[in-house]
Amino acid sequence: MAQVSSISNEQTSPTSKLITLRISRFNPEHDESSGFMEFSVSYEKWTTVLEAILDVKKHHDHSVGVRYSCRQATCGSCGMIINGKPRLACFTKISELNSDVVTVEPMNNFPIIRDLAVKFEKLFDTHQKIKPYLIRDDTEIESNEKEFLQSPEEVEQYIQFANCIKCGLCNSACPTMATDSSFVGPQALAQAYRYVADSRDKGKDSRLKIIDDSHGIWRCHFAGSCSQVCPKGVDPAMGIQLLRGYMLGFRS
Ligand code: SF4
Ligand code: FES
Repeated sequence: MAQVSSISNEQTSPTSKLITLRISRFNPEHDESSGFMEFSVSYEKWTTVLEAILDVKKHHDHSVGVRYSCRQATCGSCGMIINGKPRLACFTKISELNSDVVTVEPMNNFPIIRDLAVKFEKLFDTHQKIKPYLIRDDTEIESNEKEFLQSPEEVEQYIQFANCIKCGLCNSACPTMATDSSFVGPQALAQAYRYVADSRDKGKDSRLKIIDDSHGIWRCHFAGSCSQVCPKGVDPAMGIQLLRGYMLGFRS
């Protein structure tokens, strides 16, 4: 069990308030189980959960393991469980949580590297497996000699799915991923739909073959949790259903 402690800092301005930030600590190299460290952290109404964690790292314990980069909901690095729900730490304001206690834990369904940082290898491998690029049987697309124009209606078919930042929150929320570690997952299935639905793409058959598996598209039982947590407005659950339409021949 990791050490549990409580550390306070002072309120820094007349408008600041204090919360208790509970950070899950676990180092697989020497801990048998995880535990929480508690810190009293001051925040303003615009302070994000990531900023509070970085405040702890700067002033109290630099060893807290957390991954982040862009701090603007773009890179997909800072996903974690915040008060029980998968969220981006840089996109979640403490004031919006309406709680005096904020608990941060690593994402579910991912192996833990340390504390809040998890391994993304499987997410990226699976994403790569569904061939996340336009496939064509001509060479014009590579020579840049021709434009491949699309109508607004054709773009509308896939554009929301192109907003995926590969944060993994959908996979973390998925109850099927929790019971089947071989399940391809909502992130990759939504991306399979994104390319299959693109009128410029000719790789539908090869992608559908990859996901036509007992751990593939048929393993999803449509809990819909993935779509509830996506920070970019992607609806993986809908993408999976539309993809099934291609599998069953209702769409072409
Ligand atoms: S679909 Fe949404 S939640 Fe899932 S990886 Fe992409 S951006 Fe993150
Ligand atoms: S730090 Fe990039 S998405 Fe949060």
